[in-house]
Amino acid sequence: MKMWSGRFRQPLDAEFERWQRSFGFDKRLLKYEIEASGSHARALKSAGVLSADDLISILQGLRQIGEQASASPAFLEDEEAEDVHHFVEKQLVALIGEAGYKLHSGRSRNEQIATDLRLYVRAVIDQLRAELAELCGVIADRAEQSGDAAMPAYTHLQRAEPVLVGHWLLAYVQMLLRDADRLADCRKRGNLCPLGSGAVAGATVPLDRTTMAESLGFDGPTANSLDATSDRDFAIEFVNALSLLAMHLSRWAEEMILFSSQEYEFIGLPEPYSTGSSAMPQKKNPDLLELVRGKSGRVLGNAMALSAALKGLPLAYNKDLQETQEPVFAAAEALLQMLPLVAGWMKSVEFHFERMLESTQSGFMNAWAAATYLVQRGVPSRLAHEKIGRAVQMCLERNCELQELSLESLQSLSPAFGEDFYESLTLAAVLAAHDVPGGTAPARVRQAIDMARKQIESLREEVHAHA
Ligand code: ARG
Repeated sequence: MKMWSGRFRQPLDAEFERWQRSFGFDKRLLKYEIEASGSHARALKSAGVLSADDLISILQGLRQIGEQASASPAFLEDEEAEDVHHFVEKQLVALIGEAGYKLHSGRSRNEQIATDLRLYVRAVIDQLRAELAELCGVIADRAEQSGDAAMPAYTHLQRAEPVLVGHWLLAYVQMLLRDADRLADCRKRGNLCPLGSGAVAGATVPLDRTTMAESLGFDGPTANSLDATSDRDFAIEFVNALSLLAMHLSRWAEEMILFSSQEYEFIGLPEPYSTGSSAMPQKKNPDLLELVRGKSGRVLGNAMALSAALKGLPLAYNKDLQETQEPVFAAAEALLQMLPLVAGWMKSVEFHFERMLESTQSGFMNAWAAATYLVQRGVPSRLAHEKIGRAVQMCLERNCELQELSLESLQSLSPAFGEDFYESLTLAAVLAAHDVPGGTAPARVRQAIDMARKQIESLREEVHAHA
């Protein structure tokens, strides 16, 4: 039986009927539909609408539907169900008879979908935060194992200054920890329960909204029924947070692709995550990285699709809102699949430390340190910059590096140059000079690893507390 056929004289056009259904995708919400329906049923019993017997058979029926769904995916192949709400009602009536129709007393699908989707988003946030903790842990391990290995850091993709490999890797940990934080923030704001909002104006049965909210782990009931039934901010925030996360992974992928090329050779691609070419026998291609970069574009699209779906909607529920589900599922599933793969890749990538070190030896990456040497000897910074620029100019003419210029040549530029200039130009000295919190001096990087580990640990604890 349809959920709404009473006032209609004509049946639905068959093609339209198929086209407007959402069960093909909202079946993902079954678990949450069952949980929320259980809470609603208990509230109906407390409000005197259901008898104790009705409640028991409804709860048993709901449990059975959940069990059947996990036992056999074929159970969810239903050509008739309009959406997950209709599916559960149909199955419930098939299992327990007419009492099943009582479950819908005092509620509307508008509040149900708003509730189910919030529960889904909340669960995925917890899973993604656990995956992020895992990935950050793997990157922190690789940072620690890199010890004092150094590599060039780039600005404008030109060699700029040397950094520790660990310092480079920890940059990604910080991005990902911000993503985890954004998700936590979104979870907090979205953790309110629409149940009891009815179709638009609030339930017509005196339901205990606070108890329903608490039983589903929400912080409380939503404050306004029009808002609650038409609000998808939680979904938009969630997918936007995911689009940032995907953008970070895409930047990571791009950099790894670059560093794996023969032009850099900083990293060796892990074979279990790479493929060959059907044409060129020598090829090993960075497919995982390219797909991360490619799929992240779709997540950005999902975020755009959601905002676009909402921007023209008057209050309150409009069927357009059904279109907000698929972008949420698509973005969530994309990242749930991607993060463990990225962690696996990070675990097995090879770093070519020697090649990285070799690249730190040329390209005047000690030029800023050289200018600082002059500043410490009283030369005003702008002038020191100019003098070292001239020294670089000399090197370019002679095809050498700064440390290869004679003291005599240097002193022709400034009398402030002394023998100790050369010591300040060694890789170790240049690295050690960046001795500020957040800088690349080896002692600072060791501190940063410890700090990152603490951040990861508290992320793990937060995730655990929600489990
Ligand atoms: N499948 C619908 C959705 O996702 C459920 C709500 C239907 N409400 C309605 N008034 N037709 O939005």
